[in-house]
Amino acid sequence: MLNQEIYDKVVARFESEFGAKPETVAYAPGRIEVLGNHTDYNEGYVFSAAIDKGTFFAVSPSADEKVTLVALDIGASGQKFECALADVAPVKSGATWANYPLGTFNWLMGGAPAKAGKGFKAVFGGNIPLGAGLSSSAALEMATAIALQKIYGTSFGKTDLAKIGQKAEHTFAGCPCGLLDQASSMYGKAGALVKSDFRYNTFETVSMGEGAAFMMVKSNARHALVDGAYATRRQACEDAAKYFAGVLRGKEVTHLRDVTMAEWVLYRGGLGETTARRAVHPIGEDERVIQGAALLEKGDIKGFGALMYDSHESSRNWFENSCEELDAIVDAAKAIPEVYGARLSGGGFGGSCCLLVDPAAADGIAAKIVKEYKARFGDEPVCSLISPSDGASLVG
Ligand code: GLA
Repeated sequence: MLNQEIYDKVVARFESEFGAKPETVAYAPGRIEVLGNHTDYNEGYVFSAAIDKGTFFAVSPSADEKVTLVALDIGASGQKFECALADVAPVKSGATWANYPLGTFNWLMGGAPAKAGKGFKAVFGGNIPLGAGLSSSAALEMATAIALQKIYGTSFGKTDLAKIGQKAEHTFAGCPCGLLDQASSMYGKAGALVKSDFRYNTFETVSMGEGAAFMMVKSNARHALVDGAYATRRQACEDAAKYFAGVLRGKEVTHLRDVTMAEWVLYRGGLGETTARRAVHPIGEDERVIQGAALLEKGDIKGFGALMYDSHESSRNWFENSCEELDAIVDAAKAIPEVYGARLSGGGFGGSCCLLVDPAAADGIAAKIVKEYKARFGDEPVCSLISPSDGASLVG
């Protein structure tokens, strides 16, 4: 099993905490976003992959109406949170980490957790670095959803479980995210990319071939999407979609997915400058994902990589969701011939970059990036090759 040692740790802690083996254990991976940035809530397209790091959630029903959660990775020896079924609600301060499993449970129960009748006790832990833009929170939500679905006998399909996790983000954690992170964690496939269409919520897997691999480079700029910058970007996109719906008469526009680059060029003058700059990013990204799909089909890895560089330029110049550290990683990557493409991955404002590299040259690439970054910022980014992996499932 992938990450067996973490499974063992989570189960051992469950046994010492609750005196018996867990009734079930689920595993869900984090994700990298490869191409298509901030397109999901604009009903557009994304290439992503589930990564080989993830979260285990071990759980048993409890005899009473109590919910007990133990987070193995918080603090030196873990942290515990308890509440009654009737008190399941967003945690505003202190153990805010509990919002991800609690919110997921809440919506798995249709917003009426008290009706579940019995509570549960759970231990969870994993190896996705927190705040790195690798969707540790979505992995926790999806592991929670799959494990609790078993305990409570619900029968939601993958997309609905992803939406339950997204609703937990919106209402418990306070991040108005799209569906990308949860869907990637659910639909990942070993050795493949996931190509998502967020208008129809269709998720195809596309094989990557042998000649290239992804390297994640985690900057030490921590990203915090609940800080508000993500929400203002999303609002700008929605405002722009409304404007285009008004000026593009005769065309049905509900989201930026419906607007082409040519239309943006023609009509951008009627939008405020900042809103226009924000809108062009998801519009361009959708076009790049479509072009990227055609290039992958032809096996043109270098062409695909060039689109990743374009994507980063668009983040840097238009959407302004990059930062000095991520720009420095992409600039360093551009000077290395064995790197085919690089861009920020996920929400932005810190977090990680995703590089498309020649796997045979990985060590040399990592050494060069670390050297450049260290000379500039004093600390070292973490570079790791990523194997696209299978999505979430029950594992015990
Ligand atoms: C974060 C969000 C996703 C998506 C990406 C940007 O990861 O959680 O829904 O919007 O940012 O593409």
